[in-house]
Order: sequence, then structure tokens, then C-alpha cells
Amino acid sequence: MKTDSLQEKILSRKTFAIISHPDAGKTTLTEQLLLFGGVIRDAGTVKGKKTGKFATSDWMEIEKQRGISVTSSVMQFNYKNRNINILDTPGHQDFSEDTYRTLTAVDSAVMVIDSTKGIEDQTIKLFQVCRKRGIPIFTFMNKLDRVGKDPLELLAELEEVLGIESYPMNWPIGMGKEFLGVYDRYHNRIEQVRVEEKDRYIPLDKEGKASSDSAIVNNSLYDQCLEEIELLSEAGNEFSIEKVQNGTLTPVFFGSGLANFGVQTFLDTFVELAPSPQPRHSTDGEIDPIETPFSGFIFKIQANMNPAHRDRIAFLRICSGKFDRGMNVTLSRTGKQMKLSNSTQFMADDRHTVDEAVAGDIIGVYDPGTYQIGDTLVGGKDTFQYDRLPQFTPELYIKVTAKNVMKQKQFQKGLTQLVQEGAIQLFRSMHLEEYILGAVGQLQFEVFEHRMKGEYNVDIVIQPMGSKIARWIESDDVDDNLSSSRSILVRDRYEKKAFLFENDFALRWFQEKHPDVKLYNPMEV
Ligand code: G4P
Repeated sequence: MKTDSLQEKILSRKTFAIISHPDAGKTTLTEQLLLFGGVIRDAGTVKGKKTGKFATSDWMEIEKQRGISVTSSVMQFNYKNRNINILDTPGHQDFSEDTYRTLTAVDSAVMVIDSTKGIEDQTIKLFQVCRKRGIPIFTFMNKLDRVGKDPLELLAELEEVLGIESYPMNWPIGMGKEFLGVYDRYHNRIEQVRVEEKDRYIPLDKEGKASSDSAIVNNSLYDQCLEEIELLSEAGNEFSIEKVQNGTLTPVFFGSGLANFGVQTFLDTFVELAPSPQPRHSTDGEIDPIETPFSGFIFKIQANMNPAHRDRIAFLRICSGKFDRGMNVTLSRTGKQMKLSNSTQFMADDRHTVDEAVAGDIIGVYDPGTYQIGDTLVGGKDTFQYDRLPQFTPELYIKVTAKNVMKQKQFQKGLTQLVQEGAIQLFRSMHLEEYILGAVGQLQFEVFEHRMKGEYNVDIVIQPMGSKIARWIESDDVDDNLSSSRSILVRDRYEKKAFLFENDFALRWFQEKHPDVKLYNPMEV
């Protein structure tokens, strides 16, 4: 029998990631959420890039130099008896595979869209990963304090570009300088901007009409809002919690992170509707988060977080039961038993030892070099394995060699260890056996170069190859002579063959010429 308190603790967990294109306002929104959670007192604490105070994870020199966050970090806080875990996804355009993989460790996602720009590239990529997992996606249309796209147009983009149904939980009354507030369909009230706290909300009656005669109600922007609400009621989607939960309908909130408008309403609704930890598929079938003793999987490995200690931390998403520091677990891949005594929890710029954690939480465990990304850890001796993490397709490629041939051994060691962390992928070209690295973003190469020098004492020579389209080959039985400068045949680190195509045109040309060679993109399987 499980105690109620464990069940309550697990059900109180809301673990999510915020996805967005750079500059849409993810950091600003995160900061407001942390303010509501009482974790920080001043705006500007998380966003070290401008104030220079703290960066979310300022452990790495390169991050300080570039003023950006390379790694995804985890922030935990308590809000209205819920334990919120926000997994940060680097918002810079040089994001990495870690960003994608983080999305395998969350139960829902918040998609922040800059309403002046609409849906942008990086949002589309991250959305697709969430969509594939069928997790609930909540949309925050940000920057309503500026004149942006027409709200109806923004909704249409959600459906046309992302292919997801939407339900506006609230609707803006004006925008930019004339942003007066929102008509809150979900809470049946009007929420006003720039008014005293006591006047903030105006309740709506059963017909959806304001029961007060305040200035906002007499403004023509309010009439326009009512017309649009009517249109939405007639032609828009109906709210369905089932659809929200299976990720086919996104609740949409309009507001402004910077002006801190609509954020608290969003947070209140989000914690109510977002799922707590859900069962997860494994070799033993569905694993129930409450009924099954401790288990979890590793979604990210980070070396040398603390340069003074040269340690490696594995980020573990707990999927079931309870973790107690010092407990014995089995690594399913090898059957090896171990004691988890060195465990950490993260908070913005800090990390501290964690003694207890439950399903939904993310903890860092010390990694002496034992773990691989995707590893399952199970309490006790019974083992099972969670589904393999999806493989992601790099977009940018470089060739690398050691500058000094005498350093070949360290070069190999650094290459192997850094590739194991999973932010870059290693390939060998078929003919020349050259080392080719692939990444989702350019910054990963800089991080690689920096760490090869700093941690392995190897200078490397980089030969950029630019962007390529990687397609894996279904059968290994492929003619090596098909390799050319426009379609380079390579082997990945698991010896699977793939082609790196120069561009879309080269890919299509190849497919037409060689229909018998079956290609696939792992992100679409
Ligand atoms: P990101 O993490 O998604 O990259 O975005 P971030 O929060 O850093 O915000 C990007 C820029 O957009 C910042 O401006 C920020 O102040 C602004 N911003 C965020 N939310 C809103 C909003 O609701 N309304 C308006 N008008 N602006 C918003 P910046 O000029 O780059 O930085 P700063 O000098 O303002 O700090």
C-alpha cells in the first residue's frame, strides 16, 4: 500500500518546459513565474545577460564570455501547494540536441509566442517534438503591450502552421498603448490592465456581459472584443480537457510577460489543467508513477559543471515512486547495482544536495562515467527499460582533426566522452575515415573546441562543412560509390550508414536517381 502522502506529493508535481523562439520572452516569463513562486525577489535575477548579476547556469566560462546559457537548467518552486519543475530550454538560436531531449522529460510544455511576430522557426521545431510525444501544450501570446498581429490571425497560424486546434482562454481588449485588458472566457471575468488591484477584475454574468459600468465596458475596443468573442463562440473550437490532455488542442492566453499582465491568471489556470506525472511506457508495459517503486531515466549528461571538481552530472527524470539519497538502484542496461548517494537538485543559479524526491522531479546524480543518455535506473533488483529516447537530426557539420598528431590519444578520448554527452553526433566518412561532427546549432562546435582545449588539452582544427541534410539508410547494403561531394556517405557512431546531402535539391535528386535506396529522417519516424 502506498501512503497517501506519496500519492499527494506525486500528484502535486507539474513538470514542464517553456518552448519559444529566441526573444519571444521566455526568460521574462520564467522570471515572473519564479517571482510568483517566491523563489526570487527581483526581476532580472534569472536574466543575467543584461544585469550581469546571475546567469541561469553560469558555470561555464564560455557562457560568461558569450552571455548566454548553453545548458538547460531546472528550476523548482512551490506555488499554491503544487511543486513546479520548470525545465529550461536554451533560447539562443544555437540550441542543441539537449534542448530537444529535455522535452522527453516533461509532462507538458508552455509555448511562448511573440504576438508581433507570430510563429517562428525554433518554435516549430520544438513544437513538433512535443507534438510527437502527445504532451499538452499551453500557449502564451506575449507582448500584447505592443501592437502586434491580429489575434484572429495568430490563432489561424496555430492551426495552419502547427496544425493544432486552439481555444483562447482569454481575448485581448485592444493592444499596444491601447491594451486595456482581457476578456477572460475561462474565469468569466474581465481582467484590466493598469488599474488598482481592487478594480482588476470585473465579473461577467451568465450571458457573458459585464455587470459593471466601468470605463472599459464603454470603450469601443470592448465592443470589438465582444464581436470577436461571438465569432469565436460560433466558429471556433469548443474547450475540451481531453483534447488539451492528449495535446491536440492548445489553450491560448494573451498577456505580457514584461508588464506582468495575465501571467498570474495563466499560472493559476496552468497548474489546474496541466497534468501531474503520467504513466510512461517501458519493456514492462506502462509504469504507473504512484504504484511503482522508484524508477527514472537519464535525459542529459553534463561534464565538468564544477570546474574545480571535474565532475559529471547525469540529469535524471524520476518517473515513479520515491527517491531517497543513498538508495540502491539497478542500471537496467547492464544489470549493475549501485548506490545513489551523491544527488543534487537545481535552482536557478544554485544547486544543493537532495535527500528526497518523487516522480515528476528532476535530480542530478553523480556520474563516474557509468551512465549513457536514455539509461533507466530502477529501485531494488527488478529491472525494466523505458522507451529509447528519440534520435535527433543534426543540421550543421564540421570536420575535425587534432592539430598535433602526437595528441591523437587525448583527441580520441575527448571526442568519445563529449560525444557520449549527446550534444553533438560523431560520423566517419566512408572513404577517407574523416571525423565529422554534426550538431543542431553552431555553438556546440565552439563548446566542443573550448572543452577539448580546456579539459583534454588538445587543440583541434575545424573545417566547416556548413549545413547538410542527414538521412539514414534503411539497409546497410548500399553501394559506397554513391558517395559524392553532394551526398557524403558516412557511418554514425553506432555504425549505421547515412548520407549527408548538400541541400534539399541534392536529396530529391538522389531519391529520384536511386529509388531503391530507402532513406529516413529519425525525427520523422
Ligand atoms: P527569450 O528568453 O525568449 O530570448 O526572451 P527575453 O525574455 O530575453 O525577452 C526578449 C526581449 O523581449 C527583451 O527585450 C524583453 O524585455 C522583451 N520582452 C519580453 N516580454 C515582453 C513583453 O511582454 N512586452 C514587451 N514589449 N517586451 C517584452 P530586450 O530589449 O532584448 O531586453 P531588455 O533590455 O528589455 O531587458
